[in-house]
Amino acid sequence: MMKITILAGDGIGPEITREAVLLLEEVANQFGHHFDFQYGKIGGIAVDEEGTPLPEKTIRLCQESDAILLGAVGGPKWDHEEPSRKPETGLLQLRKTLQLFANLRPVNVFPAILDSSPLKPEVVNGANFLIVRELTSGLYFGKPRGRKIGELGTEVIDTLYYSEFEIERILRQAFELARLREKKVTSVDKANVLESSRLWRETAERVAEGYPDVYLEHMLVDNAAMQLIREPNQFDVIVTENMFGDILSDEASMITGSLGMLPSASLGDGPGLYEPVHGSAPDIAGLNIANPLATFASVAMLLKYSLQLTKEADYVEQAIEKTLNEGYRTKDIATDKERSYTTQEIGEVVRKHLAARDSTTIGVKK
Ligand code: IPM
Ligand code: MG
Repeated sequence: MMKITILAGDGIGPEITREAVLLLEEVANQFGHHFDFQYGKIGGIAVDEEGTPLPEKTIRLCQESDAILLGAVGGPKWDHEEPSRKPETGLLQLRKTLQLFANLRPVNVFPAILDSSPLKPEVVNGANFLIVRELTSGLYFGKPRGRKIGELGTEVIDTLYYSEFEIERILRQAFELARLREKKVTSVDKANVLESSRLWRETAERVAEGYPDVYLEHMLVDNAAMQLIREPNQFDVIVTENMFGDILSDEASMITGSLGMLPSASLGDGPGLYEPVHGSAPDIAGLNIANPLATFASVAMLLKYSLQLTKEADYVEQAIEKTLNEGYRTKDIATDKERSYTTQEIGEVVRKHLAARDSTTIGVKK
């Protein structure tokens, strides 16, 4: 019996995680597993109901589970809350508490929706890379931070802190993952300016010595932002610090056509956390038009990395691809000429494909 904690969160979180649970139930039915779902609160809803974006009870639920699936947090309603009551703080604290230092964000172009990318099809076609973002240090967590009134008026400070230990463990993770792919690591930094990046680069060189079969290149982050758009096909594994990874992964989502297509896994030593990269999209919350595919792809990552159900994960990915191949699209990826489908309709089609799975194409590397 595997325990999965569902943290629906805010905005479109509840509607996409509802579909994800239905998908997981279908996986359980089809393959004879039993998943035990527990539900916890995080983000704005937790602030409203419990006065904190990450209640103790939620932490405990997460710690006791095999995997965590999260929808999204945040929304304009909580924009003016003080930092400790911001929905985003709940997510950051959860990442930190569970030591989820490795954030995997695969960017995969589906041929069926090449036209939904704002980039030329010949540029994005075939792009398939993995962003490995450091998730529990850097500018997001460095101390000191804060705001005070000084001689020059209001003064603010954020700190970009990294220890060598933190840099080394995320780089190792990237090299290990590259070994399972095309064996190329692009380490992204700003070593021409930042001290933290200089240590990052030295550490990358040192770690690389243990992986002679993997090719390492360094790239400055501004150049990386440009190269992603110019020639996304050059990348295999991109590894970078927290803030750069946050920015580059949103940029990279446009290669796939929509932010609604990008899944993620956050891994540490305990249970993994899986979430779509897109946010809570408050403007379309409750309308049943959100794209559930990034959450479904996150479900596939959950099956693979936390439950070791590799075959089931492959089938979920196959079902997503078939759904797209048959022309089913939510509004965000439908072109002007195409009809768009609701969140629930897409969920139903993906489940149907899972039930009618084709075992002949499983395990064949894309
Ligand atoms: C992400 C998000 C979060 C981040 C926010 C919601 C705190 O943008 O997961 O990329 O900045 O890490
Ligand atoms: Mg982000």
